[in-house]
Amino acid sequence: MSVSAKQLKTDFLIIGSGAAGLLAASRLAPHGQVILVNKGTFQDSSTWYAQGGIAGVSSDKDSFESHVQDTLAAGAGLCHEDVVRAIVRHGTEIIDELVEIGTLFDRKNGALHLTREGGHSSRRIAHAKDATGRAISEALLSQVAPHANIQRLEQHAAIDLITSRRIGKYQQNRCLGAYILNPDGEVLTIAAKQTILATGGAGKVYLYTSNPHAASGDGIAMAWRAGCSVMNLEFIQFHPTCLFHRQGSNMLLSEALRGEGAQLVDQQGRRFMPEYDERAELAPRDIVARAIDYEMKKQGADCMYLDARPIGKTAIVDHFRNIHARLLELGLDMTTEPIPVVPAAHYLCGGIKADVHGRTDIEGLYAIGETAATGLHGANRLASNSLLECLVMADYCATDVLKQPDMPVCPVPCWDASGIVPETERIQIKQNWDEIRATMSHYVGIVRSNERLRRARRRLRLIQDEIAAYYWKHPVSQDLLELRNLALMAELIIQSAQQRHESRGLHYSTDYPHTDAQARDTILKSDAL
Ligand code: FAD
Ligand code: SIN
Repeated sequence: MSVSAKQLKTDFLIIGSGAAGLLAASRLAPHGQVILVNKGTFQDSSTWYAQGGIAGVSSDKDSFESHVQDTLAAGAGLCHEDVVRAIVRHGTEIIDELVEIGTLFDRKNGALHLTREGGHSSRRIAHAKDATGRAISEALLSQVAPHANIQRLEQHAAIDLITSRRIGKYQQNRCLGAYILNPDGEVLTIAAKQTILATGGAGKVYLYTSNPHAASGDGIAMAWRAGCSVMNLEFIQFHPTCLFHRQGSNMLLSEALRGEGAQLVDQQGRRFMPEYDERAELAPRDIVARAIDYEMKKQGADCMYLDARPIGKTAIVDHFRNIHARLLELGLDMTTEPIPVVPAAHYLCGGIKADVHGRTDIEGLYAIGETAATGLHGANRLASNSLLECLVMADYCATDVLKQPDMPVCPVPCWDASGIVPETERIQIKQNWDEIRATMSHYVGIVRSNERLRRARRRLRLIQDEIAAYYWKHPVSQDLLELRNLALMAELIIQSAQQRHESRGLHYSTDYPHTDAQARDTILKSDAL
């Protein structure tokens, strides 16, 4: 597989090893050489931290049609129904396969135990206690790890994609591989027949997020720079219930808690959700997050509270054992007291524009999982539909990749470091990172306005200019490349929000509080090349 220490070539390059990347790797490995890259360890993915479960029709009392209708309702008129149907109808098989490869889902009386979350009209979430992502990751890893055709590169961060146009070859723009930073600070050039981005979301654009550090939107930024369109980036899902606590600010309190009976209350113990929606705590997330935000602003409160006591101590300690244990470590006992919560950035409904197979605007480049926007989620994702999308897309993507005509790996130039000059003044990476996240949280959060978006864009432009002036003259490092990507992501989110002159799903503007009769996607076209 290796050409030299700094050059590799492979049949399939997969960037990202969450649910989407792992399943794609195991599907493609029997057919060729796979390089599977992640910029941390196998635990540093949103997949690893997924709590509630994976949605899919696994009970006689449920139906595909009902799952489709719930997904369309949550998506607020913007889902692509063909995509919804293609993904939902494959859910049962995917969950069966996860069971076969050893995912330890909870069971009751021999059948899968299904939990419930907001927006679902039935119990349809298969789960492994409150640590479903870890159980799925371990099962997928057990397939990937021993495979001789899969070379795993941990702590390797993709910097940019290599495209034919960028290197001045061929008329048609084609992805030829990627430049990857290794842990020693060297840049590897990986040439590949097919490249798959499975790089997850971008929650780190915000100050408060449930996402792990890896979620800095790298895949979307790389794809944009390579010439891909991006879609619906204004739809950022804020999870209503993240812990409000100095030492555990990004810890998620699963929606399954509300599914099993937990209630939202204010500091006086008043339950407020029935005033906002007849589904109360089980309304879709946009409604619950906005209600919490509204109550916090109205009452001048720092947080609201999740009261899990209606679930009962035994059920809490059994089903929610990890959340319960972690809270105890922080001095909070959810079996006896309400837990302080705030909404936090959780999921990116938009992403690289892709079809259900992950095909993007560029030949030889696929995008799957959270980094892609297929139209499944529309303007708001239905809880637990994301793991489902990752796995179904990975499966469809592998099938499509294997249908492509075989061609030799194209030779590509090594990373060009000729512009690097001796360091003068180092860019303030942490300060810029903090400024981006604070700007996005204060101006581009749950409630937006024209003026707030304009202010945010002005601030972002200054930071981007500073990064652009610095980037090519200095050795690349992981924190620098993440900063560059984060700033671009923030800019693209703001641009997308500015293009939507209505309120729909997760995008709410005080200047445009109505919903247009005609739903449309926001598509930004890259003029990179
Ligand atoms: P991820 O799992 O995020 O993996 C991204 C991968 O890309 C990582 O390996 C990372 O290292 C790698 N990467 C990123 N950038 C680079 C780069 N530049 N170079 C190399 N590698 C890179 N969804 C559900 O359906 N059910 C749930 O119960 C649920 N619970 C959740 C709980 C939490 C706390 C969070 C954060 C999310 C939850 N979600 C849930 C959402 C869901 O987990 C994610 O959408 C999904 O796991 C994304 O999977 P992925 O494979 O697309 O990306
Ligand atoms: C949760 O457990 O609340 C997260 C579920 C999801 O994001 O789909």
